[in-house]
Amino acid sequence: MDNLKHLTPKQIVAELDKYIIGQHDAKRNVAIALRNRIRRLMVKSDLQKDIVPNNILMIGSTGVGKTEIARRLAKIANAPFTKVEASKFTEVGYVGRDVESMVRDLVEQSVNLVKSTKNEEVKEKATIIVEDLILDILIPPVKGQSFSGAGSQGSFNPDNASEQELNEKTREKFRDKLKNGELEDRKIEINVKQSSPLGVGMIGNGMMDDASMAGLQDMISGMMPKKTKKRKLTIAEARKVLMEEEASKLIDFDEVKEEAIRLAENNGIIFIDEIDKIAKSGKGGGGGPDVSREGVQRDLLPIVEGSSVNTKYGIINTDHILFIAAGAFHVSKPSDLIPELQGRFPIRVELSSLTEEDFYKILREPKNALSKQYIALFEAEEVYLEYTDDALQEIARLAFQINEEVENIGARRLQTVMVHLLNDFLFDVPDTIQANSKIMITKEMVTDRLSTLVKNRDLSQYIL
Ligand SMILES: Nc1ncnc2c1ncn2[C@@H]1O[C@H](COP(=O)(O)OP(=O)(O)OP(=O)(O)O)[C@@H](O)[C@H]1O
Ligand SMILES: [Mg+2]
Repeated sequence: MDNLKHLTPKQIVAELDKYIIGQHDAKRNVAIALRNRIRRLMVKSDLQKDIVPNNILMIGSTGVGKTEIARRLAKIANAPFTKVEASKFTEVGYVGRDVESMVRDLVEQSVNLVKSTKNEEVKEKATIIVEDLILDILIPPVKGQSFSGAGSQGSFNPDNASEQELNEKTREKFRDKLKNGELEDRKIEINVKQSSPLGVGMIGNGMMDDASMAGLQDMISGMMPKKTKKRKLTIAEARKVLMEEEASKLIDFDEVKEEAIRLAENNGIIFIDEIDKIAKSGKGGGGGPDVSREGVQRDLLPIVEGSSVNTKYGIINTDHILFIAAGAFHVSKPSDLIPELQGRFPIRVELSSLTEEDFYKILREPKNALSKQYIALFEAEEVYLEYTDDALQEIARLAFQINEEVENIGARRLQTVMVHLLNDFLFDVPDTIQANSKIMITKEMVTDRLSTLVKNRDLSQYIL
């Protein structure tokens, strides 16, 4: 938590700005929500328990950055994050399926996060152990000076001593080689642990919930003798396998579980997408679907409100998990949600539709901007892609136009336009366009390749 203190609301927004264009209102509010959680943990009094997160409802059409903002926020906070589609719970075969599964997913994410932090912590230690293990395989150590037993001579053997010295020297030589990466491709044989391929799935068969089933599975595979298998691997590969084994020996898994539960409880973020799909569909007689939709909303309530959920890592309390819900709300309105649920999402932020200017910025500016992604892809084959500025403007203009005329899919339209624009180049590299070539994307080229498609509505419906 200490390392989060520097994350002021302003800095959080600045960090989000690196990836998301516009949507200041949404950024501002998620920044406040994140800071509030940091603040809460700094509160010393009993009040700490009572301060609940202000969950957020994001309203905006498809592809304007709702999911992206939530995902980035979680990254910034290094928080466990999970995303569910609310509409999934109303699907045939899914109705009645426990909504608690989202909390279990969150804990699973949390465990992964904690594990990787711990792995990082023991990395140095494990590296040393693994180096010795590999050396042992390459140059097996001479048996210790035997005073008794195996050697059966019962006395000190001077030959053995010098042999040992020699062995030690060779080992050191190889240690250096290992460190310099000179032996990476050499093959060695190691024992690899195999997880027992046990299908416990058959046992449960709907009689148990996921948590107890997974717990049972862990228990049974824990009881099975661990099978090992000899495998010939290059040193580089063997190192990976051994590192994983040794690291897990150094990590206390009970501690991981506890920390993971705590992390998920205090820092977890659950993103509930398509929440509008479980709202009553506006006016009109209450048909069948509305009933099940409302049922899902009721199922969601206790989790959002705070309750205990049993997971295979332990019981988690959902009181302080931050929920961010999102939906387009084209047909229904937030007020069509049941009142109890509305109250659980007190902060409403509206995301604006993206303009042509936004598209241009989205193409160019974010750290992971699409134009940069393609530059990197071509560069991997030593082909250098460049765009003129007016080419990017033209791509933005066309994407915007198609959104207006065909269907508004937001910034996702840029993907379809870009891939179509670059299709030939993507095919021709490296066969006809070889390494060290340059490709310049100009406005003329964009018009040339795309304008007929854009004009022909029927065609663009399918292709762009
Ligand atoms: N404001 C934005 N700035 C930068 N990129 C954006 C923005 N909006 C959308 N994108 C890009 O478009 C993609 C889709 O956006 P996102 O997944 O956030 O849509 P959404 O609003 O959650 O839509 P949906 O309602 O369909 O889930 C993102 O991966 C991102 O690359
Ligand atoms: Mg989304």
